[in-house]
Amino acid sequence: MNNEMLRKKVDQLTIQEKIGQLIQLTGNFFDKHNDSVVTGPQKKIGLNGSYQIHNTGSILNTVDKQQIIEIQRNHLLKSTHKIPLLFMADIIYGFKTIFPIPLAQTCSWNFPLIEESATVLAKECYEEGIHVTFAPMVDLVRDPRWGRVMEAPGEDTLLGERYAESMVNGIQGNGASQHIPKGKLAACIKHFAAYGAAVAGREYNAVDMSENMLKNFFLPSYAKGIEAGAKLVMTAFNTLNGIPCTGNKWLNRDILRDALDFDGVLISDYAAIDELITHGYAENQTSAAKQALLAGVDIDMKTAVYANELEKLVEQNQELHALLDEAVLRVLILKNDLGLFDDPYRGIQTTEEDMTSVVLSKEHKATALKLAEESIVLLKNNKHTLPLSRNQKVALIGPYAEEKATLGFWAITGDEEDTITLKDGLSTLLDSSCLSVARGAYLLDKHTENLYDKYTDKLPVEREDEEALLEEAIAIAKTSDTIVLAVGENTYQSGEGGSRTNPVLPTTQLRLINALSTLGKPIVLVIYGGRPLILTEVEEKVSAILYAWFPGTMNGLAVANLLTGKANPSAKLSMTFPRSVGQIPIYYNELRTGRPQLDEENKYRFASRYIDQSNLPLYPFGFGKSYTHFQYSDFRLNQEEMTKNEQIKVTLTVKNTGSYSGKEIVQLYICDKVSSITRPVKLLKAFKKIELKVGESQRVEFEIDNDMLKFYRPDGSFDSESGDFDIFIGKDSAEHLFKRKIRLVSKHTT
Ligand code: NOJ
Repeated sequence: MNNEMLRKKVDQLTIQEKIGQLIQLTGNFFDKHNDSVVTGPQKKIGLNGSYQIHNTGSILNTVDKQQIIEIQRNHLLKSTHKIPLLFMADIIYGFKTIFPIPLAQTCSWNFPLIEESATVLAKECYEEGIHVTFAPMVDLVRDPRWGRVMEAPGEDTLLGERYAESMVNGIQGNGASQHIPKGKLAACIKHFAAYGAAVAGREYNAVDMSENMLKNFFLPSYAKGIEAGAKLVMTAFNTLNGIPCTGNKWLNRDILRDALDFDGVLISDYAAIDELITHGYAENQTSAAKQALLAGVDIDMKTAVYANELEKLVEQNQELHALLDEAVLRVLILKNDLGLFDDPYRGIQTTEEDMTSVVLSKEHKATALKLAEESIVLLKNNKHTLPLSRNQKVALIGPYAEEKATLGFWAITGDEEDTITLKDGLSTLLDSSCLSVARGAYLLDKHTENLYDKYTDKLPVEREDEEALLEEAIAIAKTSDTIVLAVGENTYQSGEGGSRTNPVLPTTQLRLINALSTLGKPIVLVIYGGRPLILTEVEEKVSAILYAWFPGTMNGLAVANLLTGKANPSAKLSMTFPRSVGQIPIYYNELRTGRPQLDEENKYRFASRYIDQSNLPLYPFGFGKSYTHFQYSDFRLNQEEMTKNEQIKVTLTVKNTGSYSGKEIVQLYICDKVSSITRPVKLLKAFKKIELKVGESQRVEFEIDNDMLKFYRPDGSFDSESGDFDIFIGKDSAEHLFKRKIRLVSKHTT
C-alpha cells in the first residue's frame, strides 16, 4: 500500500479505532479475549470501561511465538478493519544467543562485528514473530553510578554514532529502504534525549545541560541512528532543562522531526505520558494526553492516558484531531513497511526444526564468541602473568567461577542455562589435573541480598559459614601456581533501576581478595559487571586484571580463550574507569579550563585539580592491553595546512614486535586550539583496528577533512573555524605517541 491508501484507511476509522492504534499494552490484556468486562490488568492501569481491547495497535514484550500467533489470530477475528497488531520487545543484545552487554561491545571498536551481532539478533527474533526491537539504546554516558551504562555505547560521541549506525543496519538491513526485508525488524533509537546524563547518576533523575553539550556531544548518536533509517524513536523518562522529554514539543518536534528529519513513530517510554503528572508538568491525565500529543508522541506505552482522554480532547479541538490522524498514519506506515497487511504472522517459523536451525546455531554462537573475545579488556598484566600455560596449576576461585548469570540485566529472553561457565571454559583448555575450583565468597553481601532477590524470584542462597568458604579457597590456592579469581557485581546491581553511590566490589569479595593476596601467589582477577567498577583498592593487590563485563552466552569460553592465550585481548575501554566516586563524572573529552593542571607533579593550588587525589583516572578511555607489543613509528603528515576542500594525510607504521599475533586499535584525537566556543581538550575523530602477525608491520593512514573539524557554534551553524588544531595519535586517550599542529586556512598564502 502506498501512503495515500494508508491515509484513506485512517479516514475510514472511528475516533476510538484511531486512538486504539496509539495504545500499547502487554500480552496479558489479551488472555481472556474478552472485551466487555474491565477487570484484571485493564482495571489496574485504569482503562475506562468503554475502551475496546481489539482496537489496540501494539503489544509490549510478548516474545513467545505461540502466544503471538494466538493473540494476532484472535485480534484479527475481532478487529473491524483487520489491522494487524505490532509486536514490540526489548531485545537489546541478543534473543537467545546473548552477546556481551553494549558497553562491552563498544570496547571491541569492531563495528562490522557489532552489526553482525545485530543481524543475528534480528534473525532469531524474526522467526519468533517479533516486529520491533527497542534497540539500540544510544545514550551517551559519563557516570558509572548510573546502572544503565551497561546498555549504552559509552562516553564518546564517535563510538556512539558508529554503534547507532551499525545496530540499525544490522537490525533493519542496510540501505534504510522503506520496506523492512525478511529476517529483519524495525529498530528503535532510545531514549530521546540525554537520559544518560541524570544528575548524580541517580535513575530517572533530571537532566540539565547546555545547548553546546546537547548538540555537540549527546545528540549525534541519536541523529546517526535516525540517518541510518531507524523506524522508531523512544522518548526518555527524564526532564531536559526543566521539561519532561515526553511532553517536550521543542525537543520532539523542532529537534527530532524538523532538525533531525525523523518521520517514523515516536513511542513514549513505559508509562512516561502518565508520569508527566508526577513531574508536575501536567495537572491531570487530560492535560498529560494533550501535552504528549502536542509534543508529537505517537504511541502511549502501557498507560490509560491516550485511551481514556484523547477522544474528548479531539472532539473539542480540530487541531488535535489532525495530530491524532498524523500519529495513526505513522503507525500504519510502520505496519505496512513491515509487510504486516500482507502477512500478519511475518517470519514466524512453526516447526521446531526451523527454529533450532537458527536460534543458538553454531554460527550465531561463533559470532557471540568472537564479539565476547574482542570486548573483554585486559587492564593489567604484570610480568606476563597471562597467558596461562596448559600445565600450570590453576586455582579458580570466586563466586563467578561457576556462575551462569553472566548475561546482564537486559537479556530478558536469554536463558542462563545456555551460558558456558568459566569453569567449563577453562576445563577444556587446561589439563584436568591442573584445575581446582572453590567458591571462596558469595556474590552479594548478606545485607544486600534481599534487595536483589525481590527482582530475581530466586530464594536467597543458603549461606554456609563464610569462614569455611574462605578457608577452602585458601587451601586450594596454596597448592596452585596461579590464582584466577572470578569476582564482580551481581546482574541486578546494574541495569534499569540499578544506580549505586559506591560502585565497588562487595565487601565479602574484597575480603577474599585481601586474604588471597597475602599468599604471595600471582592473582589474575576476572571481573564481571555492568559498569566501570572502582578498582583502586584491589588493583595493586593483583598481578593481572581481565575485565569481562557481562559477556553473554559464550562467557566461559571467551574468558578462558583469553586467559590461556588462545585469543589475544584487543579491546579498549569505551568508558573511563575512575579512581574514586569523587572523580565522577570523569571523561576524557572534558572542556578546556582557564586553569588546567598541566603537569600531575605540579601541585600549584590554584589549578583545576583536587587537593586529595590525582585528576587522572585509574584507566583512561581507549585503554586496553595485549599479550603482544605494538611499536608505532615513522609518523608523517603530507602537509600541515589545509583549506576546507582539502585533506591532510597522516600516516604511521605499526609493527608487532611481541610474540603473539594480535589486533591493535590506533586512535586519532584532535583539539581545536581557538574557537568561538570552548572545545574539549581532545576528541576522538578516527581509529583503525588492524591485525598483525608476529613481526609484521603495516602502514596506517588517516585522512583529516573539514567534516572532522566542524561543531555546533553559538549561532546555531554547524561549521569549522580556521586556525590551529593539535593532532594526537596513540594507543589510548592519555598517552600520545605523536603530536603535531595543523592549520585550517581559508586559502593558502604561498
Ligand atoms: C523502560 C525502559 O526505559 C525502556 O528502555 C524499555 O524499552 C521499556 N521500559 C519497555 O520495556
